Amino acid sequence: MTTPPKNTSGRGQRDLRVRVKTAKGRKLSSTLWLERQLNDPYVQRAKREGYRGRAAFKILELDDKYGFLKPGARVVDLGCAPGGWCQVAVERVNALGQNPKKPLGTVLGVDLQEVEPIAGADIHQLDFLADDADDKVKGWLGGRADVVMSDMAAAASGHKGTDHLRIIALVEAALAFAFDVLEDGGTFVAKVLAGGAEIEMQTMLKKNFTKVANVKPPASRSDSSEKFVVAMGFRGRQAESGAGEAEG
Ligand SMILES: C[S@@+](CC[C@H](N)C(=O)[O-])C[C@H]1O[C@@H](n2cnc3c(N)ncnc32)[C@H](O)[C@@H]1O
Repeated sequence: MTTPPKNTSGRGQRDLRVRVKTAKGRKLSSTLWLERQLNDPYVQRAKREGYRGRAAFKILELDDKYGFLKPGARVVDLGCAPGGWCQVAVERVNALGQNPKKPLGTVLGVDLQEVEPIAGADIHQLDFLADDADDKVKGWLGGRADVVMSDMAAAASGHKGTDHLRIIALVEAALAFAFDVLEDGGTFVAKVLAGGAEIEMQTMLKKNFTKVANVKPPASRSDSSEKFVVAMGFRGRQAESGAGEAEG
């Protein structure tokens, strides 16, 4: 399936990329995907460190920069399968009480897909766009959250504009939920795709949070148009939220 790395530089340095030979029955796109996975340092690191996917490093890097996953925090992870973000959140908010001197946090995850259980996280299978989704998640949460984070993404249609609008619908649903459940001072983190339709959302975020950053963490592939908004310091329900605009 794979060929050993070749010296192609001509300067005594080895090209360490793993090459994947095309095989009967495998499409070129699958071969290229496999080659990219095998050569991706984050995929290898995820395996070594026991994370369920390379996505874990995106939230790790965002949290290293902004520090919202504090011990004791109550976290909601929307679109959590296969579970990398939940794993990181469990560690960082001390959901398993690994550090007895620090407060215990909680992690609630939901996804369309079934997720293998993760110790310290309460995970439910749910379509977050379903009519009663908000109420169900609020019931499981049983109170306020300090962090609402969403890595939700619909399966790619191959059409950039359609994919962008779909992801915006998911982010807006996540944001409407966050306005309802966030504690004053709380944080909203969400994946968006660069493309324009999120400008209204940015205005609303700036009105309702004291700090709004748009970030592309190093673990996010440079050839993807994905980026993340990190909105911190929720002004709370006393602020004129315009949250209704986020619904729909
Ligand atoms: C990029 S993956 C999330 C990866 C995750 N953060 C991790 O670290 O493992 C995006 C997820 O969004 C989920 N998703 C998409 N639409 C959804 C919806 N309407 N409700 C719930 N989950 C959804 C998908 O099922 C998929 O598992």
